[in-house]
Amino acid sequence: MQQEHLFKILVIGDLGVGKTSIIKRYVHQVFSQHYRATIGVDFALKVLQWDNNTVIRLQLWDIAGQERYGNMTRVYYREAVGALVVFDVGRWSTFDAVLTWKDDLDSKVTLSQGRPVPAVLLANKSDQVAVQNPKLDSFCKENAFVAWFETSAKENRNIEEAVRCLVDHILANEGRSYGAAAADGDPLVLSGHSGNARTSHPSCRACTRS
Ligand code: GTP
Ligand code: MG
Repeated sequence: MQQEHLFKILVIGDLGVGKTSIIKRYVHQVFSQHYRATIGVDFALKVLQWDNNTVIRLQLWDIAGQERYGNMTRVYYREAVGALVVFDVGRWSTFDAVLTWKDDLDSKVTLSQGRPVPAVLLANKSDQVAVQNPKLDSFCKENAFVAWFETSAKENRNIEEAVRCLVDHILANEGRSYGAAAADGDPLVLSGHSGNARTSHPSCRACTRS
């Protein structure tokens, strides 16, 4: 039987780090050098044929960097089940802001039973500067990101991988809540997905990678 999911995913991070570019690359396969700041929030939809039985609709919420100083994020974050937190590897002030965004996220939205929404950290514009891996590995662990990826919207690096990793975690969370609700033997959402149950995240360039 076909399963369908609709997941609301937030894309957050400081001004100009590349959130809109990442989404445009992921959804429309295009990139532009031209910078036009997002005002408020934009939306994009990506439909994934996840496996033979599962279609996933990702509703991507592209939150303007300037919203860090606004008071709308509580409204924008509502009902989100995952987040991509983006910084620009060439501007460390945007890395410093990552924790502000993560704290804002965790304080304003949680899954059932108060669990935090899974968040993946994106070190974007990696076509311009190399990233310090050990530093980010420990940063991720300490600050409860499920994984981090070096991305480039310009060169189309690791964006699909990062989203897949996030969706893996979202599905695992869904599986957990279904597990409690599906006493009548409904199949778990995770079953059959690429043939291996992912209790952790071996496919992700995760915080735990060496
Ligand atoms: P706000 O909407 O203001 O929050 O910014 P944003 O995070 O959406 O940034 P946006 O995607 O508009 O990108 C800002 C600038 O960075 C643009 O000029 C992009 O072309 C550039 N840019 C985005 N991603 C990359 C990348 O991976 N590599 C390089 N070299 N430039 C990038
Ligand atoms: Mg934008």
